[in-house]
Amino acid sequence: MASPTQAIETFRSVVQFKEFERDPVTRRLSKVADVNDLRKVAKRRLPRGIFDYIDGGAEDERTLDRNSSSFSKIEFRPRVLRDVSELDTSTTLFGKTIPSPLLFAATGFTRIADSQGELAVARAAARAGIPYGLSTMATRSIEEVAAVSDGPKWFQVYTWKDRGLVQSMVERAAAAGYEALTLTVDTAVLGRRERDVRRGYTLPPKIGLETIVDGIIHPAWTLDFLTNEPITFANVVGHDDEDGSTAVSLAEHVNTQFDQSLSWDDVEWLASIWDGPIVLKGIQTVADAKQAVASGVAGIALSNHGGRQLDDAPAPIELVDPVAQEVGGQVAIICEGGARRGSDIVKAIALGADAVSVGRPYLYAMGAAGERGVDWLIDFFDTGLRRTMALSGCRTIADIDRDLVVWRS
Ligand SMILES: Cc1cc2nc3c(=O)[nH]c(=O)nc-3n(C[C@H](O)[C@H](O)[C@H](O)COP(=O)(O)O)c2cc1C
Repeated sequence: MASPTQAIETFRSVVQFKEFERDPVTRRLSKVADVNDLRKVAKRRLPRGIFDYIDGGAEDERTLDRNSSSFSKIEFRPRVLRDVSELDTSTTLFGKTIPSPLLFAATGFTRIADSQGELAVARAAARAGIPYGLSTMATRSIEEVAAVSDGPKWFQVYTWKDRGLVQSMVERAAAAGYEALTLTVDTAVLGRRERDVRRGYTLPPKIGLETIVDGIIHPAWTLDFLTNEPITFANVVGHDDEDGSTAVSLAEHVNTQFDQSLSWDDVEWLASIWDGPIVLKGIQTVADAKQAVASGVAGIALSNHGGRQLDDAPAPIELVDPVAQEVGGQVAIICEGGARRGSDIVKAIALGADAVSVGRPYLYAMGAAGERGVDWLIDFFDTGLRRTMALSGCRTIADIDRDLVVWRS
């Protein structure tokens, strides 16, 4: 039997108390292991209406679920003994080298997650060289974002009925050095996001009794919201009476302002006023992918708007292979929606995508820990991508080929 002194010594050798971390953001992030953890922290910190606006999808949210769960139906056929001591994750998109195939998709209203909004996301993306898509419905303007980011920037276009307004935004994006345009083609009308319907959610958030209670139980967000300049649709301020200076229902706004007559002719029109690559964002069939190639665009984003538009639309990852078989090599294929790990990037590339784009992950990161949360997220995707490449025997992005994955039946 050990003597009391020996027992104390043994106890001492195994007990180790962590020093208390004074910085709250570091403390928060130290307990986060993946995107789902970021989501949980964001859920705790954001008012419920804001969290649901970011997190939710259309109708029964089946497409939202499948966007992510479909990745789990893919299995690797890893190769071994391939000397993976040196990895290169860089790739080329529209003639430019980027450090990895990860892109940040455009999301509107980023300032509802954190007051720095699009500026914070753009700065973090620029530090890592990740192309960042700024939304037409952004809460920081084209110029404000360009002033803080010398990284690659794309501008996402919604087609207002007022084409003069669209043209002026495209010209501003060109003048501010944005490299590509993404034309969103899946939003003829707004999808029915029933979490928002239940709450009567508006943008910017309207203050009512329920919101006040929500604000009181989420004090950090409320303080941040109240001590910063009001949230507006920064790209259209002054252009119409729904520029965000008053709260509007998003569905009403989209359904009255956006042009439902948008057609392939408009793609031609956009090409006539923009001198760089155009990506059609929201392609959901092989037939439209072929038509996109015929229209002469440089890229397509296989996307259903993160499950926020047409419920029961196909999961982007399930479209990659059939689309790549038809049009691979003729147009850049971006898989957009549901990717939550570096391994998801590898799966999409193996099936034939050129890049993978994410939206909610960086919004959760903003809600959980602001700009530092986005830095954390970028590192998480990067290390996950590298680890998966190493474990599956791929040294470069070009090594990630169709033989690497199979669909589990
Ligand atoms: C809160 C939120 C706002 C969005 N706003 C826009 C937008 O303004 N324009 C757009 O084209 N897509 C928008 N999207 C769609 C994203 O660009 C992207 O397709 C989607 O987030 C990808 O799915 P993921 O969130 O699973 O990564 C938004 C998505 C979310 C979650």
